[in-house]
Amino acid sequence: MISRQESFLKPVKIGLLGLGTVGQGVANILARNAAEIERRTGRPIQLVSAAVRNQGKAEALELGIHVTTDAASLVNDPEIDIVCEAMGGDDPALSLLHSAIENGKHVITANKALIAVHGNELIAAAQKKGVVVAYESSVAGGIPIIKALREGLAANRIQWLAGIINGTGNFILSEMAEKGRSFEDVLAEAQALGYAEADPEFDVEGIDAAHKLTIMASVAFGMPLQFNGVYTEGISKITRDDVEFAEELGYRIKHLGVAKRRDDGIEMRVHPTLIPSSRLLANVNGVMNAVLVQGDAVGPTLYYGPGAGSEPTGSSVVADIIDVVRAMDAKPAHRVPSLGFQNDALESHVILDTADYRSAYYLRLQALDQPGVMASVAAIFGELGISIEAILQKEPELPVDGDENPADVPVVPIILLTRRVREGLIEQAIERLQALSTITQTVVRLRVESLA
Ligand code: NDP
Ligand code: HSE
Repeated sequence: MISRQESFLKPVKIGLLGLGTVGQGVANILARNAAEIERRTGRPIQLVSAAVRNQGKAEALELGIHVTTDAASLVNDPEIDIVCEAMGGDDPALSLLHSAIENGKHVITANKALIAVHGNELIAAAQKKGVVVAYESSVAGGIPIIKALREGLAANRIQWLAGIINGTGNFILSEMAEKGRSFEDVLAEAQALGYAEADPEFDVEGIDAAHKLTIMASVAFGMPLQFNGVYTEGISKITRDDVEFAEELGYRIKHLGVAKRRDDGIEMRVHPTLIPSSRLLANVNGVMNAVLVQGDAVGPTLYYGPGAGSEPTGSSVVADIIDVVRAMDAKPAHRVPSLGFQNDALESHVILDTADYRSAYYLRLQALDQPGVMASVAAIFGELGISIEAILQKEPELPVDGDENPADVPVVPIILLTRRVREGLIEQAIERLQALSTITQTVVRLRVESLA
């Protein structure tokens, strides 16, 4: 029989599914900081094997671990205590994690798509087997935001959170705004640096951010994961004009994930957003992420750090390993619950429809440069009871091919900022603006958040 003292000294054995950007970060940190980590856990941690597709490529890394292309053998290996998944995608990652749980292993994943969409079932399966599902690295790379929401802020009723939670997207927007670089050029660099998802559309169209927002909203409000409740808009349609007009009005455009708890339900949305330039979030650039959390007791707190990359993400995976090692000998009921609230105390909420969102709005119209246009625009807002905060009329431009411009007269960009209003009303206003014969292009609509 192994004594308690001996069981503490016995190494905890780790198996890695995937040895790409994240997997290599985990391997490097575990090797470099082994002694420091053991001082924290009281027990050595040993990375024993990794499963990949291309064995030769992985063996060339010379990590001194067993490398296999048979991922099933890794999750069935009785020697392995903790399985860390950093391969991405649904299949075979999900079935491998289920097998690992079924075999009584604790599981850790960086795969936000998997947690956001299949997390409820994985957590339920893990609860049955008395093992842990940990996923710190799945949100905001190296920022310990799950730890902060689940533990540091546990005294609070969280009211809302808003964050820049995709490193690739923020890198693209920052480089475009600061250096005038093209979208495609910056995206290619983000891919080369290992920031982007296997399918970069996930980054650019906000799907990756929606996965992360789903996870944060559940942990913040204590509700089951509900990915299909997130409204998502990407950054691919942001133009240099909008970036410049926003700057003139004192705002920066950021791709924001917002989760708000209201009396009538929850808003979960990812979209390009104008933020006052003076706000800290507006000044988060490059691959950096930041999440602003409003709790009823603490007020606003802000969490900032690298949102992607090998060792920043590896840092979060290894922190999960350390947490799991510390909790391994604890009774399941004494561990921090997966979503921060007792599983049987999770509450379902109404997820609000876009028409019920409340926000301020930035609208850009292209209007014929002729008398009476501004009056007809203003009349629509007046009739709908929408207050206008600011109007900017730019220099006339020559007509562009494709404009609905029968008179072939110059057009003027008109930019309007509204006060906070129900989104359904803004949609009505846009519909009526669009019907005016003097409006020559599709109205651009962006949301504005003061984050006050
Ligand atoms: P990579 O593409 O760099 O690495 C994926 C690894 O998984 C590779 O070693 C690959 O092997 C292996 N793999 C993929 N599919 C299989 C399979 N079917 N069987 C066996 N091995 C497989 O991805 P990342 O490290 O960038 O991302 C991994 C996960 O981490 C994703 O879920 C991602 O969303 C998440 N994540 C990524 C971050 C980042 O900064 N990159 C940050 C936070 C989370 P091979 O190379 O041989 O094909
Ligand atoms: N593709 C993701 C990003 C990786 O750029 O944020 C980190 O989750």
